[in-house]
Amino acid sequence: MAQPIVSMTNVEKWYGSNHVVKNCNLNIEEGEFLTLLGPSGCGKTTTLRMISGFELPSEGMVKVEGENVEKKEPYDRSVNTVFQNYALFPNMNVYDNIAYGLKVKKVPKAEIKERVTQMLKLVQLEGFGKRRITQMSGGQKQRVAIARALINRPKVLLLDEPLGALDMKLRKQMQIELKRLQRKLEITFVYVTHDQEEALTMSDRIAVMSAGVIEQIGTPKEIYLKPRTRFVANFIGESDLFDGIITAESDGVLSIGTEVGTVKGLKENTTIGSVKVNDPVSVCVRPEHVKISTEKPEGFSVQAVVKDKIFVGNLIKEIAVINNGNEIKINSINAADLPEPGSHVYLSWDLKDAVVIPERSEITLDTADKLKEVG
Ligand SMILES: Nc1ncnc2c1ncn2[C@@H]1O[C@H](COP(=O)(O)OP(=O)(O)OP(=O)(O)O)[C@@H](O)[C@H]1O
Ligand SMILES: [Mg+2]
Repeated sequence: MAQPIVSMTNVEKWYGSNHVVKNCNLNIEEGEFLTLLGPSGCGKTTTLRMISGFELPSEGMVKVEGENVEKKEPYDRSVNTVFQNYALFPNMNVYDNIAYGLKVKKVPKAEIKERVTQMLKLVQLEGFGKRRITQMSGGQKQRVAIARALINRPKVLLLDEPLGALDMKLRKQMQIELKRLQRKLEITFVYVTHDQEEALTMSDRIAVMSAGVIEQIGTPKEIYLKPRTRFVANFIGESDLFDGIITAESDGVLSIGTEVGTVKGLKENTTIGSVKVNDPVSVCVRPEHVKISTEKPEGFSVQAVVKDKIFVGNLIKEIAVINNGNEIKINSINAADLPEPGSHVYLSWDLKDAVVIPERSEITLDTADKLKEVG
């Protein structure tokens, strides 16, 4: 495999006694769109700032293009940042904002003009050069900020919640535009968001962070279909979780004793390491994979009472309460599949559609890989 364009190895970041990035190991491939996704305060911006050079790791190494960048100032790294608040110069017009980086580098005037014109065209702001920043809409400012970063021809563009200030409609539109731009320019994007839907829509790969730890790195599909930890299962999309203890294993099928009876899952769908009888685990099923019926199905099932049936346009959502009081979500595209509220029902799933998450999945990815090797 080609050398990663950015690599972080055993990176730790402390602010005083606050450990905000923990054992971060991340390889970003050239040309990929990688998203750091996680809730507020989990360390996304700090991770980005260690790549850009605005922050130094407390321990560990950051490489850009294979080179240790510890001693390199931000302006010396082939990386540019688009900040959440755009950080545009309000007293300059659009043209001067975009030209700024080249002027500092003393690029000849004619070349600046050519490159700014090119950038304005790229972000679809032709004819806006003389406008003042204060006369631009949120989405337009955002495009100026991107043009200002791209004009330096960075190998890597870091974007920290660039769409955060936009309304939903513009945000969706900009997601598609940004993704298109990234493909066209073949620049590596490292993108920060706390919006899981945005991450799923735009990314080649997602690194899901929680409390300073990257809990999983994978394609949107991998992350959705095989969440490694309870946190990832809950944070990305909707999930139904059944907690219990493995009571038996036969032919690769695990029986898991829960408060609401025995449920099943496949041993090969265990998210990390290997599991054995008596291990505590959670079985995670996505709501579209939960089967609901008024007749007791063959094999295992969990009894429930339907609480709500909600029509949400393209699908019907149902909430069913199981005997321990937990609510289970069921999604279907066919209303006829779903019994009415008050019905006594049985919930089940195809074994292939459930993942088995060991309780020890909270441990970091690295340790998990070692456990896997040990078996
Ligand atoms: N300069 C700083 N000094 C001390 N603590 C800091 C500093 N910057 C960030 N922190 C702390 O580090 C943790 C991670 O912050 P960070 O900004 O990386 O989170 P984030 O994931 O980007 O969150 P958000 O989604 O809210 O932007 C937080 O607890 C924050 O309070
Ligand atoms: Mg942040």
